[in-house]
Amino acid sequence: MGQPDYYSLMVHGGAGAFEYIKDQKTAARYLESINHALEHGRAVLTQGGSALVAVETCASLLEDDPLFNAGCGSVLNENGKVEMDAAIMDGRDLSAGAVAAVQNIANPIQLARCVMIESEHVMLIAEGAKRFADHYGIAQKPDKYFFTPERMEQLKRARLKRKIMLDHDDAEESEDQKYGTIGAVARDREGNLAAATSTGGIVNKRMGRVGDSPIIGAGLYADNETCAVSATGFGEDLMRTLIGKTVSDFMLMQRMDGERATVACIEFLKRKVNGRGGIIVIDRDGNCNSGLTTKKMIHGWIEKSGETVVRF
Ligand code: GLY
Repeated sequence: MGQPDYYSLMVHGGAGAFEYIKDQKTAARYLESINHALEHGRAVLTQGGSALVAVETCASLLEDDPLFNAGCGSVLNENGKVEMDAAIMDGRDLSAGAVAAVQNIANPIQLARCVMIESEHVMLIAEGAKRFADHYGIAQKPDKYFFTPERMEQLKRARLKRKIMLDHDDAEESEDQKYGTIGAVARDREGNLAAATSTGGIVNKRMGRVGDSPIIGAGLYADNETCAVSATGFGEDLMRTLIGKTVSDFMLMQRMDGERATVACIEFLKRKVNGRGGIIVIDRDGNCNSGLTTKKMIHGWIEKSGETVVRF
């Protein structure tokens, strides 16, 4: 028997408390951007496009929106530089591509896909990733595309506070913490799953710091037998719990459905490391689930070709 001919899609724009969003107009801008990405993804999937193309499309659009901490909206590290991480995974055969600490790349998710398709490796970093991008004609942008006065101010405030600030942290959230990782997961009409995650990391992070987003099994995972997952939050917590693979393992080894696996995984994140973050999950049947330990997560979904839903 073939797969049911419907598609599902979820995207997120970060997890946290979002207390800096004080008016409805600003909140509406975030939700509109999530909606916009979902509708583009819907167009891909409706026309029979693959889950892989849908998640790359959604992630690219969110990377192009300065509201989010990815691509052009990436936060600055301790040296005032942008270093971005991204990864993509195809649930058909577990193929994956990732890049870490890359600079000047317009859409790191597209470079990650290029690594997956054109190289024999899973991850390229820093200068090697740049050379690879040059070779394959991946779009690059000058520093000024990433370096806005607002981000310089944000970094200055972070340095003053002498601490690393988590994007969308719950504990001491301020205006400076308004940028979050982005991600997308999809199931296409053939029943194939894919996941994508992209980020600028955390404000004032150490040079060379890599978070969960490009780590296969942490910031994302996709396996047609189980589910597609994208994570957001404090990368070190998500890496130590291998959050994406853990959802998949709960389904594969403990025979949980997507909903139970999502709940169990969030409980695991809390219990093991008191972790801060959230996940979006589409299971092999196209059911959409999400879980978080923070107060909110900007996200949206289209379940089984249904209506578009967006929310904090
Ligand atoms: N979750 C994104 C990061 O910690 O880099």
